[in-house]
Amino acid sequence: MFVKTLIFTVIISLLVIGIYAAGFKNRGILEAGQEIRLPEPARDGEMSVEKAISQRRSTRSFRDEPITLDQVSQILWAAQGITEEQRKFRAAPSAGATYPLEVFLVSGMVEGLEPGVFRYMPLNHSLSRVLDGDKRQDLYNQALRQPAIRSAPAVVVIAGVFKRTTGRYGSRGEQYVYMEVGHAGQNIHLQAESLGLGTVVIGAFDDSGVQKVLGLPGDMIPFYIMPIGR
Ligand SMILES: Cc1cc2nc3c(=O)[nH]c(=O)nc-3n(C[C@H](O)[C@H](O)[C@H](O)COP(=O)(O)O)c2cc1C
Repeated sequence: MFVKTLIFTVIISLLVIGIYAAGFKNRGILEAGQEIRLPEPARDGEMSVEKAISQRRSTRSFRDEPITLDQVSQILWAAQGITEEQRKFRAAPSAGATYPLEVFLVSGMVEGLEPGVFRYMPLNHSLSRVLDGDKRQDLYNQALRQPAIRSAPAVVVIAGVFKRTTGRYGSRGEQYVYMEVGHAGQNIHLQAESLGLGTVVIGAFDDSGVQKVLGLPGDMIPFYIMPIGR
């Protein structure tokens, strides 16, 4: 009887440890994940803004080759990086500096980065690990199976939390959030161009499906999916 109870207790303990470990590996978005510092972004480059604007085109097919962590750093900085240290203002304008946007990186083939979902942390210019494993196929399935998402080495998702801005501006704040997504998306587009990369803004997808794939909380709405590659 004692031996049976002991075996039963050991099995239950192992199960509990296993479930806990699995949960730890696939932690949800609101828990702080392992932090990965990104390389310092450049503040100057080879291409003029006029050239980037005139050359920019939506790109939907990519070479089967990785992008670098330097390129990821530059793209995320262009989207929401800190450009004014004292007041912590960011690369894209924000209504009343309420900063409703959250930027995620879905990595598949990034040098020096495991496949997974990462949240960009502007204040530290770092990535916080959200989910392990390559989620590009799942994301593609939620976006009308648009091939660009599956073939790009990395995908950026711009999401936002309305209440950060409507809390200050009431219902008008909703429009402001949509406007901000445009600013961040265009910054990414032009930054990609100047790095010799390409992207496209994808708006056709199932919101709740994308939320599930990325582990986003219900009040964090995905707006743009941007596959990035060469
Ligand atoms: C709000 C919005 C949503 C878009 N959604 C998609 C999309 O789901 N899939 C796609 O391939 N392109 C999408 N695009 C990109 C447009 O098709 C593209 O910008 C347009 O064809 C003009 O080409 P250009 O970007 O090269 O100037 C979207 C663009 C905008 C502004």
